Amino acid sequence: MSNEFPFLSAEYAARPQPFWKNLRETDPVYYAQEYGFWVISKHEDILEMLKDPYTYSSAAGPGGGLVAGEDGEQRDDNGGMGFLPLIQHDPPEHTRIRSLFAKAFTPKRIAEMEPAVVEIATNLMDELHQKIRNGEALDLVDDFASPLPVYVIAQMMGIPLEERHRLRMWSDSLAIGAGEGYSIQQQLGSRKEMTEGLSEIISAARHNPQANTLISAMLDASEEGENLRTEEILGLSKLLWLAGNETTTNLISNGVVFLLNHPDVLADLRNDRTLISDFVEEMLRYDGPVMGLFRIATRNVEFRGKNISKGDTLWLLFSSGNLDADTYEAPETFDLHRRNKDHLALGKGIHFCMGSALARLEAKVAFEWLIDLLPHMKLDFENGKRIPVPILSGWVKLPMSVDVG
Ligand code: HEM
Repeated sequence: MSNEFPFLSAEYAARPQPFWKNLRETDPVYYAQEYGFWVISKHEDILEMLKDPYTYSSAAGPGGGLVAGEDGEQRDDNGGMGFLPLIQHDPPEHTRIRSLFAKAFTPKRIAEMEPAVVEIATNLMDELHQKIRNGEALDLVDDFASPLPVYVIAQMMGIPLEERHRLRMWSDSLAIGAGEGYSIQQQLGSRKEMTEGLSEIISAARHNPQANTLISAMLDASEEGENLRTEEILGLSKLLWLAGNETTTNLISNGVVFLLNHPDVLADLRNDRTLISDFVEEMLRYDGPVMGLFRIATRNVEFRGKNISKGDTLWLLFSSGNLDADTYEAPETFDLHRRNKDHLALGKGIHFCMGSALARLEAKVAFEWLIDLLPHMKLDFENGKRIPVPILSGWVKLPMSVDVG
């Protein structure tokens, strides 16, 4: 392996899989000298690290403090959100907050969202068809993949959908991928506006104990006399926007791109819609929206013969682990009937994605709609734009045309 891991190169951005394969086969615990962090590419190693939060800390945040700003400066602002609870906490704080938050963000609350998710997807499809009739320009991300999760989380939080415009602005300018379209000022402005908007919603929920929203459930959550603090509820609300929206958008967009390039898989889904959940799961493994996240070593540790020092940053390449031939049979084949459905796309261990059930539900509903539209859809890749940071896989912009005759 050359000691130049070109993860900011165009070649890598276009197709990182061969680079990952090379790393897994030649140097699975690789020190990227020029960037100053370790790159961990094998499934079993990533899993081991995710399961040991005492040695591999999340304190630096999901971007490891390394996500560069527009100005090229290294800053750790989580896409303009500042410190994020839970995802940036280690035990014991993490344990306390996760357990309180789990009382509000329950599987039951998520399952009960299904009719609302269907209604939101139906309305978006109606709007899309209206635009098709009017001959308006269409974009897969803007017109469907992005608003779906945004409106769902807004509804869960009790934010009126009449404020759609405001909600879209928050999420657009906070999305890591959309960062380039917005100046730092706009991003900071949005962060401030979002913080103020969410604070108002939390304070309104405090005065309306009858409301049954995710925010009021967070206010009610208590354990052994402990409640979530107001600033924690605010931080968690922001985290839901950041962790839940762009990721789900990308799962939908990546899935559409994949199906257009693989008509055989699309035909299988159209023949048997019960396969949609398997498709979503295999899509997560095959091209997951979160390619990798960071940890910081809390002590000196020897790993696969390499000396990792206390304070070192490690990049855990989930998407590489998901293509590891030691874990998966024919890992580079997209297999709807794959038996090993376990993957790293939603993390593992104490930080395992809390929104996994919601993401799966949204993607299932989305593809139930999309597979009918796909045979009439064309994407304009030349004018599309991939997310420009190597942490996420997905699209910022993907113009489409739909010919429904
Ligand atoms: C954590 C991926 C959707 C909420 C995570 C982690 C991953 C992930 C990899 C682990 C982070 C780590 O280990 O540092 C995804 C993907 C999604 C998705 C690929 C969509 C396909 C959602 C949704 C929500 C959500 C819809 C909620 C609305 C969270 C939260 C955490 C998290 C709160 C932090 C858990 C903790 O630190 O204990 N997600 N996520 N995610 N996710 Fe998701």
